[in-house]
Amino acid sequence: MSSHAAPIPMTSTPCGPLAGTAEVPGDKSISHRALILGALCVGETTITGLLEGQDVLDTAKAMRAFGAEVTEHGGGKWSVQGVGVGGFAEPDQVIDCGNSGTGVRLIMGAMATSPISATFTGDASLNGRPMARVTDPLALFGCQSVGREGGRLPMTLVGAAEPVPVRYVVPVPSAQVKSAVLLAGLNAPGKTQVIEAEATRDHTERMLAGFGAEITVEDTEEGRVITLTGQPELQPQHIEVPRDPSSAAFPVCAALIVPGSDVLVPGIGLNPTRAGLFATLREMGADLSFENEREEGGEPVADLRARYSPDMQGIEVPPERAASMIDEYPILSVVASFARGQTVMRGVKELRVKESDRIDAMATGLRANGVTVEDGPDWWIVTGYGADGVKGGALCASHLDHRIAMSLLILGMAAQNPVRVDDGGPIATSFPIFEPLMAALGAQVTRDDV
Ligand code: S3P
Repeated sequence: MSSHAAPIPMTSTPCGPLAGTAEVPGDKSISHRALILGALCVGETTITGLLEGQDVLDTAKAMRAFGAEVTEHGGGKWSVQGVGVGGFAEPDQVIDCGNSGTGVRLIMGAMATSPISATFTGDASLNGRPMARVTDPLALFGCQSVGREGGRLPMTLVGAAEPVPVRYVVPVPSAQVKSAVLLAGLNAPGKTQVIEAEATRDHTERMLAGFGAEITVEDTEEGRVITLTGQPELQPQHIEVPRDPSSAAFPVCAALIVPGSDVLVPGIGLNPTRAGLFATLREMGADLSFENEREEGGEPVADLRARYSPDMQGIEVPPERAASMIDEYPILSVVASFARGQTVMRGVKELRVKESDRIDAMATGLRANGVTVEDGPDWWIVTGYGADGVKGGALCASHLDHRIAMSLLILGMAAQNPVRVDDGGPIATSFPIFEPLMAALGAQVTRDDV
């Protein structure tokens, strides 16, 4: 989102049962990667089901600025004429990645080993997020960067003219950092290795293999060791983007907490590195089933069926599951508010450096609506008082964070009183059809007059 966009206050009013089928948009992580890898091969990559959210549109625009031809054909169909590994042209304008950490960090990686410079910026949220986690490993390839204090955007990168391959142990569980290093490794001669102690989403590895790169993954005592052979000629692909489990989480969780609901969310990617929320909900006693389980494009996929679940219990979420549900903690905290007892979430420091400090944003929003929340640097605990236990009634800040805005609006669907958010505009970054989709199920989310 542009930092200048006018806020869109929204209200969610308690509603009757949610029912029907919710066809959520394409996966955001896979959409970014499809455009970037499409731009890095020679020839035409075709994509169906691309998420046409603002984050991904900003990445499409950036790929054009680096010389790729990106064409929208309508109905989620796109094509990319790539320029080849090492073929990026120097952009003649600042690259504005809007709200997207994934966009900027992956693109930085993709240009870091080409002899070009680029300046990156974003909205107020993105310009406050740490970039040293990416520029530190990119420096090992020979890429220089100058940004604001604390390694913040706006920032200029000068790509390495003679890149060297690197071996890098990722210090934080981050698929964005891992992916930035792998994308930089594409144009370095020899083998680049990335080691992650905890498995994070593996879409980059899968897609690199699909595009014909030589890439291996080994589980060792040190962790997952990913080895990529540099300077491949990537082969254009046809990519069918599965529907996003992180977006599916919203109608699924809404159905669990709104009395009488029964909602089908078809065709959801259930890659194990992304599906932690659904395991957690089932452990809490959610009536959530996977129907028509199948494989599509090498990924496990199922139709999710969620029904109202008045008897959910709080649980201790295993910290080792955090990476596989990192974007879902805000909406989990909403479900936890309607469960009985404590839901304990530990090992989640990364939530503090997302589009907002998500622990703080949700803890403040939930408390304002009558929920008990305790929090510390890398943990938080939500105490729920059961199905009818949330008062609601508050106006909450979304902090330029789509997932905070959507989570609080879902809280309002099942609380005793409406819940308002000061700005629902950022929802368009990842889930542009959130309002009509939820309305079709029976929710009442309205834009307030300003
Ligand atoms: C993403 C990785 C995660 C996630 C983000 C998407 C990706 O971020 O929160 O929404 O597509 O690689 P981190 O790498 O910062 O954990």
